[in-house]
Amino acid sequence: HENITKIKYIDKLQFGNYEIDTWYFSPFPGKYGKARVLYVCEYCLKYMLLEKSYRYHMSECKRRQPPGEEIYRKGTISIFEVNGKKEPLYCQLLCLMAKLFLDHKGLFFDMDPFFFYVLCEIDKEGSHIVGYFSKEKGSYNNVACILVLPPHQRKGYGKLLIAFSYVLSREEGIIGSPEIPLSDLGRLSYRSYWAYTLLELMKGRSSAEQTSIEELSKESGITRDDIIYTLQSMKMIKYWKGQNVICVTAKTIHEHLQLPQFKRPKLTIDLNLLNWKPHN
Ligand code: COA
Ligand code: NA
Repeated sequence: HENITKIKYIDKLQFGNYEIDTWYFSPFPGKYGKARVLYVCEYCLKYMLLEKSYRYHMSECKRRQPPGEEIYRKGTISIFEVNGKKEPLYCQLLCLMAKLFLDHKGLFFDMDPFFFYVLCEIDKEGSHIVGYFSKEKGSYNNVACILVLPPHQRKGYGKLLIAFSYVLSREEGIIGSPEIPLSDLGRLSYRSYWAYTLLELMKGRSSAEQTSIEELSKESGITRDDIIYTLQSMKMIKYWKGQNVICVTAKTIHEHLQLPQFKRPKLTIDLNLLNWKPHN
């Protein structure tokens, strides 16, 4: 097992109204990769070394939103679908910036196989990137990489993106799962999404004990394995005569839903506002 640690030179990312402390190495080329502060245009994602060039660029850049199609809009929240094949430069720049916050994801320079779903907050200035996830075309992994920029974390955007990835899979008729390995923060967010979704589904049953893993999977779009993992973590499953059996009462479900870690998500997807059809 080879463990290569690359030195992280870039300490800070100047992006929109934020100066963001970086977390990991990202392979920006040449002198850009050796800068202490990197300036990135929040609209076109061009990276720059000097504050002066950045100021000039921001006064010149005409872009105010991601390229591609806006496929979802609810209030000030908007999601764009960007095709890696049509917008390879934008997608590469997005991945390079994201790598500053992603530890173990390899960086691929071929963007063709991916779609990018970019979540923005809209105001009168433009559409400001909050986070995104990528998704490999034709894959059962409904998320390849997911990121919410640090200044926007812990506000519910991560679980909103996760919920959206399941919405897209549902439209495609696919039971999907994120690509592994997940980071610690990724696992926490998924577990929280899965747990709440499954608890809510089981709550709606007249008799939770009668619920099967298959049914939960069909209704939630969450895979069998992810359901078993989640129910195990809540001690709601037993291995009985060679099978995993859900083992829970209406009372325990109700009690779990009272706990702070299983509270209702702050942001939810409104299916009526989705403007998207699966690609064949
Ligand atoms: N400490 C403890 N729990 C955390 C946490 C933290 N720092 N961050 C997230 N969680 C858990 C919580 O249960 C949280 O729900 P809550 O705030 O209602 O308690 C839940 O995960 C998700 O919170 P949410 O606000 O929806 O997620 P987010 O916007 O912070 O985004 C990630 C989550 C994973 C996208 C974000 O942390 C991120 O981009 N991390 C860096 C990139 C990464 O690791 N991506 C995953 C690679 S597989
Ligand atoms: Na990921």
